[in-house]
Amino acid sequence: MSDARPIRCLITAGPTREWLDPVRFITNPSSGKMGYAIAEAARALGWTVELVSGPVALAAPEDVELEKVVTGEEMLAAVQRRFPKCDVLIKTAAVCDMRPKQAAAHKVKKDAISWTVEFEPTPDILKTVAATKQPGQVVVGFAAETQDVENYARKKLAAKNLDFICANSVAAGGAFESDHNEIALIGKDGSLVRIGPASKTDVARELIAQLAPHLATRA
Ligand code: C5P
Repeated sequence: MSDARPIRCLITAGPTREWLDPVRFITNPSSGKMGYAIAEAARALGWTVELVSGPVALAAPEDVELEKVVTGEEMLAAVQRRFPKCDVLIKTAAVCDMRPKQAAAHKVKKDAISWTVEFEPTPDILKTVAATKQPGQVVVGFAAETQDVENYARKKLAAKNLDFICANSVAAGGAFESDHNEIALIGKDGSLVRIGPASKTDVARELIAQLAPHLATRA
């Protein structure tokens, strides 16, 4: 290991969209604020930051390499391309879990809409990429749940081969679109650090500070 270059950090943020036809999609209310705040906090520590973002209404953070994507497949391709060179992946994005089995090539006329839509799962980006993790690479997931948050988060940590997971309650509309957040950072060794409630800026700073001692630049 060498400290010759800054930590290279890959972050995903925002929602993804899955198209029913060229003018209709399904998604979720993720604003991208948490991921963008993490990108800024990592940059402020001097890290090299790559941000893969779904569609959000936020300005690109300064000095961050931003790649905009729309669908889960596009986010998967971007993360797979960038991950091998990164020391840490922080996967904040709220990936849309489902997509229509068939997307129409042209706008479906109102009188031709089928009121029953069959869905299929989108690729689990985090699980796919964490399976390719090399020694020294650290992978951090987020677990947004409305109940039994820490329990589900621990299960996800193991199932997806993660080093850390941020358990994040989204009950009663918390977290999504908000400027504030509260997370529990759980490590694969069982450690638990509570961060917040605080502004997403402060939560991001504390999260990066907690992760920093576990990271090293790889040769
Ligand atoms: O399984 P669940 O969706 O709750 O897991 C959340 C974590 O997994 C987040 O870090 C999210 O970015 C990631 N994820 C993903 N690809 C999916 C679904 C979730 O990378 N299709």
